[in-house]
Amino acid sequence: MKIQSLRGMPDLFPEDLDKWHIFESKLSKIFHSFGTREIRTPLLESTELFSRSVGNSSDIVNKELYSFLDRNEESISLRPEGSASVIRAIIQKKQEQEKHKLWYQGPMFRYERPQKGRFRQFHQVGVEYLGFEEGISEYELISMVLQINRIIGISNYIIKINHLGDKIAKESFSKSLVSFLQPHTNELHEKDQARLKSNPLRVLDSKEKSTQELLEHGPKFQDFISEESKNFLQNLVDTYSDHCDIQIDQSLVRGLDYYTGIVFEAVSHELGAQDAFLGGGRYDNLSKQLGGKEMFSIGFAIGVERIIELLSIKDVKKSLKVGFIVAGEQNNKKTYKIADDLRSSNNSIILDTFLSEGSLKSQLRKANKNNCTHAIIVGDNELKNNQIIWKYLSRDGEQELLSLKEVIEKYTNL
Ligand code: HAM
Repeated sequence: MKIQSLRGMPDLFPEDLDKWHIFESKLSKIFHSFGTREIRTPLLESTELFSRSVGNSSDIVNKELYSFLDRNEESISLRPEGSASVIRAIIQKKQEQEKHKLWYQGPMFRYERPQKGRFRQFHQVGVEYLGFEEGISEYELISMVLQINRIIGISNYIIKINHLGDKIAKESFSKSLVSFLQPHTNELHEKDQARLKSNPLRVLDSKEKSTQELLEHGPKFQDFISEESKNFLQNLVDTYSDHCDIQIDQSLVRGLDYYTGIVFEAVSHELGAQDAFLGGGRYDNLSKQLGGKEMFSIGFAIGVERIIELLSIKDVKKSLKVGFIVAGEQNNKKTYKIADDLRSSNNSIILDTFLSEGSLKSQLRKANKNNCTHAIIVGDNELKNNQIIWKYLSRDGEQELLSLKEVIEKYTNL
């Protein structure tokens, strides 16, 4: 039987990754302009890190963690997201009292039911601002999101935003929601009944029409958060409403337990059911929850597969390609040295070596097929006189006999 990749864990081939590279290089320039620096944390962490952060009642920890015992019988897990690891790393380095502007990227793992836009191994690019209390950092991160979308060319999206209040407001709203929903338990869909038990706020996220209708008569987040928080949310929305479609969504609670304060998501209907391509928010309690000192924290993560789906880069800029053809008896030492000199002189060109080991004619045919614009032909006779053939493939085979020095000069300036 052939071995297949695991479900929901797709391979990414060179033709898929062209767009990824463009996205990554644009993004790293944006991060640079915000003074945000990269952090890399391990893919594997102690399971406890995620149960104490993302939360035992969240779907991510409850049903979706890839956990197993290592050889030492310790429970470890593949990371389902990046924020918990970043906070763990900062606590471990005893840097909670400093300010950090960090970004990260890499694969995340969630045992979800695979479908379009939803994978078991997927990639995130995330940003975490640590040490900045509610205020300017919310503005800065929303403007970073807008900047990213503008620079990579996404215009058809909505930012949904909400304020979850502080921990106390969140808890008292949750209690009130439970007392409102409990008498209606039997009317709720099985899934929502389970959420009501494990993580009541998630009922707000329900896709069930009847649940949403019931919730219309239920308690509202807005009534539990302070005037100050309400004004802050409204000011944020007012500031950016000229620049993008930004809407307050009171049912936005997000699937991870650690949030308090502002939460947001960017969604695009072009993505179908899995329409969120970015999500984030404030999570000031996480550092203490993980045994560290108090640390203001806010961030977001982009789902790379989803944002790539939205990119309309059709013509990926192709690099110039030159065929390197060895004709006749191969004098390896010399020819390798020539190829090496060429690459050192201009590494933005693809020097397509080993076109085939066939005749000169068949190698030239291959060079044409591979879209080479020029060919450099190293032949035995010419090499004896330290000469090389420079051939213009686009100009009806026109060619020149040049010294190595001249070839390198031409190659450098191509
Ligand atoms: P999240 O909303 O769970 O937040 O994930 C962020 C984004 O990752 C989602 O909006 C989505 O685009 C993508 N994503 C999530 N699950 C999958 C999946 N199974 N397949 C494909 N894409 C997926 C977090 O992970 C938080 N750590 C974000 C954050 C950073 N909050 C504060 N700082």
